[in-house]
Amino acid sequence: MFTLTQQKALFLPTKQGEFAIGPRDVPKPGAGDILVKNVAVGLNPVDWKIQAFGLFVEKYPTILGIDAAGVVEAVGEGVTSLQKGDRVLYSGFLDNDRATYQEYTLIVADLAAKIPEKLSFDQAATVPLAIATASIGLYHPHGATKFVAPWVDGGNSKYSGTPLVVIGGSSVVGSLAIQLAKLSGFSPIITTASLKNMELLKSYGATHVLDRNLSADALPAEVTKIAGDLVATVYDAISSPDTQSAAYGLLAPEGRLLVVLPEAVKETSEGRTVSQVHGIVHFPHNLDFGKALYRALPGLLESGEIKPVNVEVVTGGLGGITAGLEKLKTNQVSASKLVIHPSETV
Ligand SMILES: NC(=O)c1ccc[n+]([C@@H]2O[C@H](COP(=O)([O-])OP(=O)(O)OC[C@H]3O[C@@H](n4cnc5c(N)ncnc54)[C@H](OP(=O)(O)O)[C@@H]3O)[C@@H](O)[C@H]2O)c1
Repeated sequence: MFTLTQQKALFLPTKQGEFAIGPRDVPKPGAGDILVKNVAVGLNPVDWKIQAFGLFVEKYPTILGIDAAGVVEAVGEGVTSLQKGDRVLYSGFLDNDRATYQEYTLIVADLAAKIPEKLSFDQAATVPLAIATASIGLYHPHGATKFVAPWVDGGNSKYSGTPLVVIGGSSVVGSLAIQLAKLSGFSPIITTASLKNMELLKSYGATHVLDRNLSADALPAEVTKIAGDLVATVYDAISSPDTQSAAYGLLAPEGRLLVVLPEAVKETSEGRTVSQVHGIVHFPHNLDFGKALYRALPGLLESGEIKPVNVEVVTGGLGGITAGLEKLKTNQVSASKLVIHPSETV
């Protein structure tokens, strides 16, 4: 029987207001949904941007948060793939019942994956949005590149000998893009980061790590030295106006630049394109892709082909999110995912 009634949540009461913890009802899972008790919740840069700039959300009070891992508390009608007590990771959504900055979240069962025993909840919470954003960019059948995903028949190692550049390889999204690129066989895999992160990024599969401080003029020469020419595909996991411009400069004619923020390169030539990736699996055009990703994810994590990134736990439960988002906003996080534990909320 389902008896949970109230929980703690982190509300953003008004557009560009201040976060505050308050009570809210625990939602009941409908057909196809599960209710998850969140054990570890990951922080994302988009959350401070929504708070600071008033983006995306029109209905307040709102609850934010996309990444989480936890334990299935209840399942809705028709759910057979998961049961109460299963450890799962999932990507939430900007809808108050389905966001993750609270103790309990509703999620479509097909968009949650069982966590292999060897991974902690903290580690699992680093993966969902980043792997979706990286893989939708590279492999969505209606995307700019349309590479075949490594979990699809014939996709593994398919792009052997094809170069790929990932700008910002130590970001969470970049780290997942490198790992997927390795599974796909891309080679060389060239990335930019602070050089202190070189060994970590090589462990993910980068073949060459270039200093993120190289000038936009110097970068094409370095990439050409490694890849033999300018390249057909660049994934810019940072996508500031500066990195987009530098990344565009690495493209051969007909090349594809994938960006994770709105396109800043306004003029293109010789068939080059710039396309924004939307990593939310709940969007209708991403739903089928997302379900296939979530079917593949337990196996990829179990085999170690996809590894979680480093975790930095922020104390204070839901109350620690404000400080954590400030760290993201002020660029104080390197090659790590910030995670909070809702159970520590006071
Ligand atoms: N479109 C979508 O659906 C979607 C989804 C998720 C994220 N995003 C966006 O993607 C971006 C990355 O998100 P995230 O969570 O992966 O970020 P993150 O991990 O918090 O980013 C921090 C990392 O960025 C690296 N970095 C910063 N500036 C750089 C530069 N100029 N060149 C190379 N590396 C740089 C830093 O590298 P070093 O420490 O090595 O210097 C650091 O490791 C954010 O803007 C986020 O809003 C979009």
